[in-house]
Amino acid sequence: MAIKVRHPGEGFAAEVVGADPGRAEDFEAIHRAFLDHGVILIRDHPLSPDAQLHFSRRFGPLMGRRPSTPDKVLMPGEPEIVVLSNRVVNGENVGITDAGRYWHSDLCFEEEPNLGTIVHAIEVPPTGGDTLFADLEQACRTLPVTIKKRIEGKRAAHTFRKHYLEVMAEGSPRPPLTPKQLAALKETYHPIIRTHPETGRKTLFINPGHTTHIEDMDEAASRDLLHELFEHCLQPDFIYRHQWRVGDTVIWDNRRVMHNAEPYDMERYTRHMHRTCIHGDRPF
Ligand SMILES: [Fe+2]
Repeated sequence: MAIKVRHPGEGFAAEVVGADPGRAEDFEAIHRAFLDHGVILIRDHPLSPDAQLHFSRRFGPLMGRRPSTPDKVLMPGEPEIVVLSNRVVNGENVGITDAGRYWHSDLCFEEEPNLGTIVHAIEVPPTGGDTLFADLEQACRTLPVTIKKRIEGKRAAHTFRKHYLEVMAEGSPRPPLTPKQLAALKETYHPIIRTHPETGRKTLFINPGHTTHIEDMDEAASRDLLHELFEHCLQPDFIYRHQWRVGDTVIWDNRRVMHNAEPYDMERYTRHMHRTCIHGDRPF
């Protein structure tokens, strides 16, 4: 079956039809679609943890255990798979119940952030729990010149600590980080406009969840400018809404998009997914 790339609905994401993640010869087409669109979807293709790991490693080395991820949400025996789930087994949550419910780019606060994330859906609620993606390459291309001039050559600070302390203060049911993990959560500076290392195109590398301030700018001016930038980035035209189905694998480019997981009725429904993260380069 020939591999086709089509748009599953409104938005910039693409569905790769007829590709088998387990087949080495299909990877080139999958990778091309990933670079072209930033978010791609492969439907109706159940993946075992082993198959997901194997497929993920075609993109690059995996990120594995991180200071920002509690050990308890890693798949037993497979620390390169994070379990996103509200399933309870023997009275304990098996995964992060409330992961990613805010606009962010995965692990952007690391020196060498995540290249891409691969999420495979095993159980999904009939309603709610969508994931939204915003295309920051389109946002960068359409940025008003007046704003562009103010951020050219500038860097912004990223940290996981702020978000983590906020969700824990709000009573998040996720397992807490250890004192050693918390101490390892550093603030990192990255260029606000970055060059995609594989496509050469410019994109914005900021998000409301982890980007706290702009380097060498006073606090109020930095806050106002980030607010203006986020408003521009979150225009409906730049957003794709993914409604999950069992057997979906979504692969997104964290160098180019930010995402936001919507809530669902956790008392009534189960949402169970496996996530792998690919190691990226230092942004430039
Ligand atoms: Fe995320």
